[in-house]
Amino acid sequence: MKEVHIDTLVQCYALEELSSEDCALVEKACQATSTSYSPYSHFQVGAALRLADGRIFLGSNQENAAFPSGLCAERTAFFAASANAPDVAPVAIAIAAQTRGKFLAKPITPCGQCRQALLEAETRFHQPIRIMLYGTEGVYVVESMHALLPLNFDGSELERA
Ligand code: THU
Repeated sequence: MKEVHIDTLVQCYALEELSSEDCALVEKACQATSTSYSPYSHFQVGAALRLADGRIFLGSNQENAAFPSGLCAERTAFFAASANAPDVAPVAIAIAAQTRGKFLAKPITPCGQCRQALLEAETRFHQPIRIMLYGTEGVYVVESMHALLPLNFDGSELERA
């Protein structure tokens, strides 16, 4: 038996320490929380996705009385980008959330389905997506979706069939 250790590097920044481009993306994610439709969870999530050509697409969580019919902020932003700029790689995403009028102190992290959806774009464009997770106490930065979803299923096994 041998053990395999998988490391994930998470850098914790103060907002002011980010580059102006990254800081602006985080601010857009914060602003995007205002478009959340979340009458069930009262948890307002915003996402801002930057493409390789500099375009930015925003998303927020959109809920539904039939709960699984809703969608997270990250996939709302990603699918909007993918539908409007299908050939341009996403290079960075910022995520923020607030509840009861306050942004979360600890950074919000994307759910498994959003990780899987964004991983597909990394695989497709052979380009990592920088992930910035906002909390009022600091911003977590992870250099790729692969790092957030180790031992992932990326479809490469399908080609063997
Ligand atoms: N949600 C997101 O939009 N992104 C996340 O990263 C976590 C959860 C949404 C889904 C649902 O509308 C609400 O937050 C509560 O789970």
